[in-house]
Amino acid sequence: MDVPGFALITGGGSGIGRACAKTFARDGAAGVALLDLNHDGLLAVKAEIEEQQRNLAKDNSCRVEVFVVDVRNEDQVNTTVAEVARTFGRLDYVVNAAGVAKKHEGGAAFAATDDWQRVLDVNLTGTFFVLRASARIMLNQPRLLSSIDGRELSRGVIVNFGSILGAVGVSMSTAYTASKHGVLGLTRTASEDYAAQGLRINAICPGYIETPMTTQDALVRQVMAERVANAVPMQRMGSPQEIADGVVYLSGGRSSFVTGTALFVDGGYTER
Ligand SMILES: NC(=O)c1ccc[n+]([C@@H]2O[C@H](COP(=O)([O-])OP(=O)(O)OC[C@H]3O[C@@H](n4cnc5c(N)ncnc54)[C@H](O)[C@@H]3O)[C@@H](O)[C@H]2O)c1
Repeated sequence: MDVPGFALITGGGSGIGRACAKTFARDGAAGVALLDLNHDGLLAVKAEIEEQQRNLAKDNSCRVEVFVVDVRNEDQVNTTVAEVARTFGRLDYVVNAAGVAKKHEGGAAFAATDDWQRVLDVNLTGTFFVLRASARIMLNQPRLLSSIDGRELSRGVIVNFGSILGAVGVSMSTAYTASKHGVLGLTRTASEDYAAQGLRINAICPGYIETPMTTQDALVRQVMAERVANAVPMQRMGSPQEIADGVVYLSGGRSSFVTGTALFVDGGYTER
């Protein structure tokens, strides 16, 4: 998929972030840095990647570094992003997959302030902190060369996590829907800030994907099963790998003229 260089992935200890990390490693990244709150999850994904790379037929070593980081913490984010760039020598791809979801029983009128703040802090402000720290580093590094045809690619690529709920709304999702609409706005404005200087900044918008986020909570599971049956043209949930494929496309040389966009990977949900 033409992803030489080094990737940093938040939320890398679970679900879609985990699938992204494994796909970058498999498709040719020289190193991946995984950031998450969940230390055990990080160590498990690191071990999975190392096992995967050993089992690949060709020589495919990929350095894996893990960092326990709360993306809401500005200082931790700045320090860790700088450390990753120092460790790898550069920072080519940043995937902002850390996120939390919350259903507010009774809808917006009954949503708790704490829930609103937590979801906005992780999904939107956390994405901003990581984007800002990464862009400052990327703007000062030379462009990466394609591993396929040697042409100059970008100075750096950032993929933010929107959602179908970045474009539409469903009930009981006040904070999450607002946060994901915000991520698309952040993506659009930041992409324009740096398009001419060689940064590409895009969003990926998953539909209903089978991960711990969607399978652990009974209310979420129930709402989702109804939506999948009635509103997803493909009538199934997606897999984390199907989202990772979109992320690696948006990161690699095959999307070298793509910036400021949102790629919906949703089984057709938003065509309706
Ligand atoms: N699963 C879906 O159906 C779906 C749909 C649309 C968008 N998304 C988005 O995809 C992204 C990944 O979600 P997922 O389904 O893999 O969820 P997940 O719960 O499996 O993984 C999310 C990861 O983010 C980490 N995280 C949470 N808060 C954090 C914080 N403050 N700092 C650092 N890490 C933190 C968690 O520890 C977890 O490992 C999220 O942004 C989510 O909103 C998911």
